[in-house]
Amino acid sequence: MITGERVTDGQFPLPRGRSVSRKKVILDCDPGHDDAVAILLALASPDELELLGITCVAGNVPLALTQKNALLACELAGARRTRVFAGCSRPMVRQLVTAEAVHGQSGLDLPGGKTLPEPGMKLEPMHAVDFIIDTLLTSPPGTITLCPTGPLTNIAMAMVREPAIVERIAEIVFMGGAAITPGNVTPAAEFNIYVDPHAAAIILQSGVPLVMMGLDVTHQALVTEKRKAAMRELGGRAARTVADLMTFYCAYDIDRYGMEGGPLHDPCVIAYLIDESLFTLKHVNVEVETASPLTLGETVADWWMITDRLPNCLVAETVDAPGFFALLSERLGRLR
Ligand code: BDR
Ligand code: CA
Repeated sequence: MITGERVTDGQFPLPRGRSVSRKKVILDCDPGHDDAVAILLALASPDELELLGITCVAGNVPLALTQKNALLACELAGARRTRVFAGCSRPMVRQLVTAEAVHGQSGLDLPGGKTLPEPGMKLEPMHAVDFIIDTLLTSPPGTITLCPTGPLTNIAMAMVREPAIVERIAEIVFMGGAAITPGNVTPAAEFNIYVDPHAAAIILQSGVPLVMMGLDVTHQALVTEKRKAAMRELGGRAARTVADLMTFYCAYDIDRYGMEGGPLHDPCVIAYLIDESLFTLKHVNVEVETASPLTLGETVADWWMITDRLPNCLVAETVDAPGFFALLSERLGRLR
């Protein structure tokens, strides 16, 4: 369900070319435990999503590890033919900030200091930014959805290098920001936006239809002990490994926020593409702070339409958490 102010032509800016058919998507990520689950969910959903490629960016851990972890996630899904591309190794302007405290030194740590084995799959030779540009320029306009679940560097760099792609993007559904919830890396900022606020500013000002899966909604999608046990009971290596990964990943957030489970941020993006009805959203103006040291990376959402700034982003407000985890379990159960 969508609420919020209508734009001047009386229509919500629905994604260009939106149809009920299978969506063609590029998943841009920084795995990261929750990014890895997003990859698994996407690969387990071929009826709804055609995953054209996975593009990796530095974020949770340096690029060398995020690209390796993306390959590992594809192997875990049994999808060795997935195309995986390495992208930007640092944000556009700032130095890289990483999140080993949440994801461990490898970015995909398991409990007891264990890690996953080395991947056998190889990266594609093309740079991720080139892949994004080429795919958009060679596909019919309005047919490609971008799904960033890490810092927005690759997407913004593609827009800067080839501005002609901007109007060809159907929609960008991203995990990042927080409209009405405090930050998780600073009191004001969510991690993905904080790492590259300048890239986020380019996306927010691009005019592309945007959907923001921020902390407002991802902090409702909690991996409780019961939900983790349900994943493990699905059987199969993928589901068992996800349950193990969640044990490591949730510990930080449970400790920090005192919640009953860790927030499964990034798979919200994929769940939205599969079943929008799991979410309620509000159409508002969102801008990002790029200067103040105190609030750098804060996503300032005009939730009550106090300004005359036009809405530029559908912000997710609630998620049907039982429905979300039912979808995730059903899909993880498909991976053997
Ligand atoms: C975001 O930061 C990362 O640690 C997660 O992968 C997610 O994309 C949450 O703030
Ligand atoms: Ca991420």
